[in-house]
Amino acid sequence: MSYQARFRVWRGDATGGDLVDYTVPVNEGEVVLDVIHRLQATEAGDLAVRWNCKAGKCGSCSAEINGRPRLMCMTRMSQLDPEQPVVVTPMRAFPVLRDLVTDVSFNYAKAREIPSFVPPADLKPGEYRMTQEDVGRAQEFRKCIECFLCQNTCHVVRDHEENKAAFAGPRFLMRVAELDMHPLDAAAEAGIDRKKTAQDEHGLGYCNITKCCTEVCPEHIKITDNALIPLKERAVDRKYDPLVWLGSRIRRRGA
Ligand code: SF4
Ligand code: SF4
Ligand code: FES
Repeated sequence: MSYQARFRVWRGDATGGDLVDYTVPVNEGEVVLDVIHRLQATEAGDLAVRWNCKAGKCGSCSAEINGRPRLMCMTRMSQLDPEQPVVVTPMRAFPVLRDLVTDVSFNYAKAREIPSFVPPADLKPGEYRMTQEDVGRAQEFRKCIECFLCQNTCHVVRDHEENKAAFAGPRFLMRVAELDMHPLDAAAEAGIDRKKTAQDEHGLGYCNITKCCTEVCPEHIKITDNALIPLKERAVDRKYDPLVWLGSRIRRRGA
């Protein structure tokens, strides 16, 4: 069954813009990205939109639909009220390049700040062994498609540009948590204290576990419960564990 939908799409660039009204046909089974493509093919040939897979796997088509951060390719038109206009705007936490395309380089900069996995010195590739429980934990975090919807939603940066320098955001704090919980990561032996850097360099303390990031994750990763809260607990344990405290004092004196 086809019908005419009303779309309000944000058009503009870094200097400013506004919502533009369109009326566009919608066919059964279509998603918001289909309709955006129809607009490009008909009345808005220069509408800028980023997408690649149309299967919820590349993380490119993130936007805000009726104010909610979502993937355009995974939002069915049948989920939306046909009587109401569909408002499509770019992600709010990142600078607009043009129309629905934002500059997400903030996220790549944050990714680069996190030291990668440090292989254990006494094992060669092929000799690594992990329990299924440890594998399962890492696999949940590895489902991330880097859509940055969680980064866009987190209130710490969404309306607070000034916090961006000090806060890595949920996606990258989750990365720190993944590595800190990895049984084979030898970061400590290499002089990297992942719990300390989470607090001091990646802004773990800014997170007040509101779970908004978890709510928008299209991969249904339990970012807050399984990554951020455990990382906070581990960081606190490190701070208040008397043996860890004593060890750091001795190391500091010996330095
Ligand atoms: S749980 Fe933490 S990281 Fe997630 S949205 Fe809330 S404050 Fe941000
Ligand atoms: S954790 Fe989820 S919401 Fe955040 S970037 Fe990865 S897939 Fe997207
Ligand atoms: S186009 Fe790849 S996630 Fe939507």
